[in-house]
Amino acid sequence: MTSTPAPADFPRLPPVAADRLPALLQAMPKAELHMHIEGSLEPELIFQIARRNGVALPYASVEDLRRAYAFTNLQSFLDIYYAGASVLLKEQDFYDMAWAYLERAQADNVIHTEIFFDPQTHTARGVPMQTVIDGLHRACQDALPKLGVSASLILCFLRHLSEEEAFQTLEEALPFMGRFIGVGLDSSEVGHPPENFARVFARCRELGLRLVAHAGEEGPPAYIWSALDVLRVERIDHGVQSMRDPELVKRLARDRMPLTVCPLSNQKLCVFPNLADHNLGRLLDAGVMATVNSDDPAYFGGYMNQNFTETFAALGLGAPAAYRLARNSFEASFASAEAKVGWIARLDDTFARFA
Ligand code: ADE
Ligand code: ZN
Repeated sequence: MTSTPAPADFPRLPPVAADRLPALLQAMPKAELHMHIEGSLEPELIFQIARRNGVALPYASVEDLRRAYAFTNLQSFLDIYYAGASVLLKEQDFYDMAWAYLERAQADNVIHTEIFFDPQTHTARGVPMQTVIDGLHRACQDALPKLGVSASLILCFLRHLSEEEAFQTLEEALPFMGRFIGVGLDSSEVGHPPENFARVFARCRELGLRLVAHAGEEGPPAYIWSALDVLRVERIDHGVQSMRDPELVKRLARDRMPLTVCPLSNQKLCVFPNLADHNLGRLLDAGVMATVNSDDPAYFGGYMNQNFTETFAALGLGAPAAYRLARNSFEASFASAEAKVGWIARLDDTFARFA
């Protein structure tokens, strides 16, 4: 059981009965800050889009594809993830993928989401950058009026490719600058340290883009230091390996550097042997500004609320941790200060109702 205290800025956090915790986790408004849109493609949608685009898949059926979702590490997942994304060709395909996720987000009371996309996965197959961004952006624009979900996009560079290719991708995306809020760094981590992308991140910073990077998912604490000090990111995606370096944990806590933690992903990719071994509770206890996210929900067996409910059950976390995590998700977002105040007021109202 974590000893995470009620946050000082919510001193009278009302006690919540343990049996009401799952309902509270469901009802509380939250932000999702680490979700790869290509990782939200459910097998049914992969087959549907493949059929209408005449794309052949190396799997006979939805069940056959689902059976392949037995991963041993990040790379074993990425191979299947890139194969799934190969069905996406048209603007409507990108719209449909994003819309399916946004409906799932709404069902989990995710009221704000900052969505990763991997343009190089698509441009390498001849899909124009504009097709990718138009479809995703149109879905994000529809999400607020139609679903009450605020949504924005973060363009990720693939770190197994070169910095030169990242620069080329940035160049192709420049005409659409107003349609994404920042850049990230994802794909195979070990052997591809953040400092390989120092110049392209510096350029993105000059352009006014927000900066995040995957670091310390499988890679060592040194990659987290490098993401902070060389890339100068504003959030660390995953960051769970930080616990191997006490000085780094102190730094993260002192600077209120957000970690976008993805518990079910970490379990499925064998970062921790079991969910009960996950260090989310220990990160919160150490004062680290952690958040909960789904990463690639179609592949890892759960969207946001399943990440919350399964992790809380496995770690014995309670309502104070729920409040802290939801509040962190808003504070760590790239939304306006005004939007954050409104969302936190909604969070407080939900907790008051559950007291
Ligand atoms: N791309 C999609 N999911 C990822 C993950 N968990 N780590 C790195 N790159 C990714
Ligand atoms: Zn990720």
